[in-house]
Amino acid sequence: MFTLTHATIDDLTALVDLEKSIFHYDIISPRQMRYLLNSKTALVIKAELGNLLVGYMIILRRCRSRILRIYSLGVRQDARKLGVGRQLLTVAEQYLQETGCEILSLEVQAQNSAAQLFYLAAGFVILGTKEGFYTDGSSALVMRKQIPIMEPV
Ligand SMILES: CC(C)(COP(=O)(O)OP(=O)(O)OC[C@H]1O[C@@H](n2cnc3c(N)ncnc32)[C@H](O)[C@@H]1OP(=O)(O)O)[C@@H](O)C(=O)NCCC(=O)NCCS
Repeated sequence: MFTLTHATIDDLTALVDLEKSIFHYDIISPRQMRYLLNSKTALVIKAELGNLLVGYMIILRRCRSRILRIYSLGVRQDARKLGVGRQLLTVAEQYLQETGCEILSLEVQAQNSAAQLFYLAAGFVILGTKEGFYTDGSSALVMRKQIPIMEPV
């Protein structure tokens, strides 16, 4: 069974390697990853199977915003369809509640239908398109999920 925990600077190389093996565009550089791992406004969660890094999620939080942005989320090719991605989104929703935010937002490449189906299955909706969003000129769909804040009873 896989475990989900906060990533630390010790995970830098493994995270960059995994990111490179998953994405072929707008790859997070080692420098950016280091910055994110040290940032107070970024949450980096890793999923491991034993000692093997199988997935990760990076969430960005802006000051005074009700929106958390899923900046990157990926699962190793041979660990897909096992529920790792869904568990990462559960952590994102927990973090949403903890921070008093209401909306999870993300961009996904317009041609990436597998990821879109993944997010739709998790209750996200498509909000619009950002033309030429990625450095290779491809467009992004903006997807969001709104979860009302739970007031204490
Ligand atoms: C998208 C991605 C994160 C899904 O991760 P995963 O761990 O394989 O997903 P899960 O096993 O948790 O799947 C949860 C649900 O999402 C949907 N889903 C996941 N992958 C799917 C696919 N390839 N096609 C259609 N639906 C899919 C299914 O409804 C699935 O539920 P089910 O298994 O009960 O049918 C993974 O395929 C990935 O890393 N892709 C490359 C990176 C990427 O595109 N990231 C998103 C960019 S923003």
